[in-house]
Amino acid sequence: MEPAKMDPADARPARLAADAAGFARAATILVAGGLVALPTETVYGLAARADSADAVATIYRAKGRPSFNPLIVHVPDCAAAERLAAFDARARLLAQRFWPGPLTMVLPLLPGAAIASSVTAGLATIAIRVPAHPVMRAVLTACGLPLAAPSANRSGAVSPTTAEHVVASLGARIDAVVDGGACAAGIESTIVALRDDGSWQILRPGPIGHDALAEVLGTSALAVTDHAIEAPGQLASHYAPGKPVRLDALEAAADEFLIGFGAISGHASLSPRGDPAEAASRLYALLHRAAAAPEPRIAIAPIPDHGIGTAINDRLRRAAAG
Ligand code: TXA
Ligand code: MG
Repeated sequence: MEPAKMDPADARPARLAADAAGFARAATILVAGGLVALPTETVYGLAARADSADAVATIYRAKGRPSFNPLIVHVPDCAAAERLAAFDARARLLAQRFWPGPLTMVLPLLPGAAIASSVTAGLATIAIRVPAHPVMRAVLTACGLPLAAPSANRSGAVSPTTAEHVVASLGARIDAVVDGGACAAGIESTIVALRDDGSWQILRPGPIGHDALAEVLGTSALAVTDHAIEAPGQLASHYAPGKPVRLDALEAAADEFLIGFGAISGHASLSPRGDPAEAASRLYALLHRAAAAPEPRIAIAPIPDHGIGTAINDRLRRAAAG
C-alpha cells in the first residue's frame, strides 16, 4: 500500500529557498497581504506590507504583540525612505554612512505617507531602515512595497537568528519563511531618534555603537532611555528564554546551564576568544539552546560593557528580568 502523500505545498509555514523562485514566491505572498519571515543582517524579521492595515494586523496577532508597540519599516533605498519620512541634514548624513545596515532612524512621518497607522501605533514618527541582507533586499525589490517587520518571534521571547528559530516560535501562524542561514550581526538594529532641538538619543543599543553615531552627529546625545514610552518595545522583560537567568556568573551552580565568554568556558561559549562581535552573533542561538537544555536555570558569564557589548548587556538584562 502506498503511504498517504502530503503535498509539501500545504505545510505551513512554506520553507522557501533563498533563490529567485523563493524571492518571487515571497513577494507574491506579501503583495497578497500574507506574512513572510525573512533574514536580515540583524535577526529574522516577520514582514507584511506596511500600507495595509489588515496585513499589519496579522503581524500583531501572530506575535501576540501589544498594539501600542510600533513596528520598523524596511525600504530598499534612501529615495524610498524619503517618500515616508522627513529627512534633515543629520538624517541624510547617517543614511550615507550607515545604510544599508543595522541602523533604524526615528523620524517625523510625512503627512499622507502610505503607511497603515497601526505600523506607527498612531505616533507622528516612523522608525525606518534600509537593511543590508541580500535576501531582504531582493524581496523588497521584488514586491516594490515598504515592509513592516518586527523580529520573527512570539512577543517577549528570544529573537530568531535562524529559520529554525522562526518555525519553532511562530510555526503555522505565518505563511512562509525564506531560509537565508544564520544572521551575521545577531542583535537587533541600533535605534536612534533625531530631535527637533538638534539633540539625539539612542532608544535601543545595537550593532552601531554610540561612538560611531557621535562621529556623525556630535556629542549632544541625551542619555539612553530606559522607560521610553516612546519606544514601548523596550519593556523591561523581553527576550525571555522561559527560565530564570543569572548574569555575571563566574561558574555554574549544579542546576545551571552556563553560557561562557572568554576565559569562562561554560556548557557553551559565546566566544572562546572573547570577541564581542562573535558573542553578539551567537547570543540568541545560545539562549535558545540553553532554553532547550535539561538544566532548569541559565547563568551567563560577564560581557565587557562597551562597543557592541553594551547592546548584548541590554538584551541580557531584559532576558534576566523575564
Ligand atoms: O534589527 C531590527 O531592527 C529587526 C529586524 C527585523 O529589522 N527588527 C526589530 O523590530 O527589532 P522590533 O519590532 O522587534 O523592534 C521595533 C522597535 C521597538 O522597540 C519599537 O518600540 C521601536 O522599534 N519603534 C518603532 N517605531 C517607533 C517610533 N515611531 N518611535 C520610537 N520607537 C519606535
Ligand atoms: Mg523584537
